[in-house]
Amino acid sequence: MTSWPWETIIEPFKIKSVEPLGFTTREEREDALRAAGFNVFHVRADKVLIDLLTDSGTSAMSAEQWAAIMRGDESYAGARSFYVFEKAVKDLTGMREVIPVHQGRAAERILFSFLGGAGKTVLANAHFDTTRANIEVSGAQAVDLPVPEAWDFENPSPFKGDIDLRRLESAIQEYGAKNIPLVILTVTNNSLGGQPVSMRNIRDTAKICLQYRIPLFLDCARFAENAYLIKNREAVYAKKPVREIAQEMFSYAQGCMMSAKKDALVNIGGFLALNDLDWAKQARQELILGEGFPTYGGLAGRDLEAMARGLEEVLDEEYLHYRIRSVEYLGDGLMEAGVPIIRPTGGHGVYVDAKRFLSHIPPEQYPGQALVCELYLAGGIRAVEIGSLMFGRRVNGRFEPAKMELVRLAMPRRVYTQSHIDFVIEVFRDLAQRKDSIRGLRLVEGFEHLNHFMAKLAPLSTA
Ligand code: F0G
Repeated sequence: MTSWPWETIIEPFKIKSVEPLGFTTREEREDALRAAGFNVFHVRADKVLIDLLTDSGTSAMSAEQWAAIMRGDESYAGARSFYVFEKAVKDLTGMREVIPVHQGRAAERILFSFLGGAGKTVLANAHFDTTRANIEVSGAQAVDLPVPEAWDFENPSPFKGDIDLRRLESAIQEYGAKNIPLVILTVTNNSLGGQPVSMRNIRDTAKICLQYRIPLFLDCARFAENAYLIKNREAVYAKKPVREIAQEMFSYAQGCMMSAKKDALVNIGGFLALNDLDWAKQARQELILGEGFPTYGGLAGRDLEAMARGLEEVLDEEYLHYRIRSVEYLGDGLMEAGVPIIRPTGGHGVYVDAKRFLSHIPPEQYPGQALVCELYLAGGIRAVEIGSLMFGRRVNGRFEPAKMELVRLAMPRRVYTQSHIDFVIEVFRDLAQRKDSIRGLRLVEGFEHLNHFMAKLAPLSTA
């Protein structure tokens, strides 16, 4: 916020419509957690006080977005709302072809239905789980090439979302450019801390891709947060409007896929935007099979209006300043409470390093999930484990842990106020004081795919 001389950063909105929080007793939470098999995905949302499970589809819409919803044109084909949406996406991304979908993974499924297949490899700074799953289902493989400091959670480097350019070049040599249908930069990198990708890295990646004639795509779910972090952390962009930074990011890419449930500030929606006419044709054929006619793509006209408006609002610099600062505020509070987190804090949440925080719990006893459960029991706070429950494997009866044991506290956009966050910090302070008494969990029922959504667990009786 350029013109704000005060130290206190305030929420840049006032509240017109409110929803009550789900207050529960400790006993009610114990019952709810037991019934959920110690998996908070199975806890009813009305038994959750502060829901930090995800920043996806959980935004509060603005009065202008609700007004836009009333303007929605629900014509099956050629709805006015489609053209409003198409213009907003074109102005932002500069892409020629705009294809609406109901959420991000639909864009992924459509894209890899014709770009994937056996023998193909997709390279990225990091693939989000559904992106990886859609690539693998097609028969192709997904390879992550994050910079090494992304794995060093203490390292405060500003752009830990960057792709490792040296490994990118060697992977292109190894797999062969003709077998690589595209390179993806996920902005920001959700899998490892919501860390941003620098403009320099986007530009250098684009150069390498051009040299080998491989299209570069952005997974742009959190493009505005990434653009704002570029403004904050990459000196030459300090004075550039965030909108122009975002446009420059897109200018290096030949296409993008977006889960609009994040930075378009809506509860449902997404799009695929690209320059290649032939690919767009194939995508629209697939779209009609699974999503709907190309001018609505699995959405209502009103959803398209809300997305168009959200794509404008998210680039408001006062909003972004508050957004990034409020995530950082939570991170600072946790660090002060002695809770190790991925540093620096990224765009959409704080990631607690449960491996370090609960170092007495070995990976096979799911330290991340143990922390998730304890957060819920203590304060009704819901978070998500990104660790061995999500990525651990059993190979020939032997447990192979994930590389990290994280707990993500994702911040819904424009939903919680500073006192909610102060409360979360207070709960962590309490946990930090008695962390050695937190017990691990054992798996009671596991699933081969997407284990963390479905798994049932039980607490271990001894520490
Ligand atoms: N790409 C990224 C970077 C994501 O974070 C997500 C979703 C998707 C694609 C898929 O989009 O959910 O609209 O189908 N992330 C959510 C999360 C689920 O909680 O981080 P979707």
